[in-house]
Amino acid sequence: MRRCVASTSGRPAWSPPPDAAYAGPLSPRTNRRHLAILARRPPPLDVLDWGCGSAEYRPLVRALGHHYVGVDIVGSDADVRGDAHRLPFRGASFDHVITNAVLEHVTDPLGAVAEVSRVLRPGGVFSGSVAFLEPHHMDSHFHVSADGVVHLLRCAGFTADAIWPQERWLVFDSLAAMPGPVTGVTRAGLRLLARLERLLRTRHLHPRALTAGTWLRRRTPAERADELLAIAGQIDFVATRR
Ligand SMILES: C[S@@+](CC[C@H](N)C(=O)[O-])C[C@H]1O[C@@H](n2cnc3c(N)ncnc32)[C@H](O)[C@@H]1O
Repeated sequence: MRRCVASTSGRPAWSPPPDAAYAGPLSPRTNRRHLAILARRPPPLDVLDWGCGSAEYRPLVRALGHHYVGVDIVGSDADVRGDAHRLPFRGASFDHVITNAVLEHVTDPLGAVAEVSRVLRPGGVFSGSVAFLEPHHMDSHFHVSADGVVHLLRCAGFTADAIWPQERWLVFDSLAAMPGPVTGVTRAGLRLLARLERLLRTRHLHPRALTAGTWLRRRTPAERADELLAIAGQIDFVATRR
């Protein structure tokens, strides 16, 4: 079994999410930020969609001028059927690996991210999202915190360039929207809580702020992101293969 016990603490410094770099179309299971990360790189790149599911990224990635390959362990929409732990590709085959909501479903996250590293060319990029405080769904095994994301990436030979919370998908949003044993009344309350929490997080409101003299001061984007990472349903990341 793969082990990585080295201390890999320390998150990358906050940088503005690149969302504005993508103004093209979206579909229900695609994410503007993930496409923006890809849109900033000059085409054509060989792009692997790791755990592609219904491959909704295929037309959007191709429209950006990149070559798209989707891999998944099941389903008929993938270009290639394969296990994320043993990818059926030669080493250094891709320039960019994208992933949306897959890492929480693999049974060996360290080994699976090492496979991503293997199939990327040096300097290649791994970007996408992983569940953190979403409820258990399908066969999710390991939901990953911000520190866990950084640890997994560094253990597999990546430099973690950026991590961001999905600001519109906090724990409350995911509990309100995803299948599970939550009543309709509770879901309605959670939707309200999510809106309230997003509003409250814009200012310093903790009693400590009174003594620190920061009461009601607007939080910087970095402060806000740092707080929301603690209550995010999903976390986005970008990393470069060393
Ligand atoms: C929540 S779905 C996300 C699908 C797609 N990325 C999307 O966002 O629509 C998780 C996907 O991971 C795939 N998956 C889970 N374990 C896998 C593995 N070991 N190897 C390859 N794919 C896997 C599932 O088959 C499923 O399509």
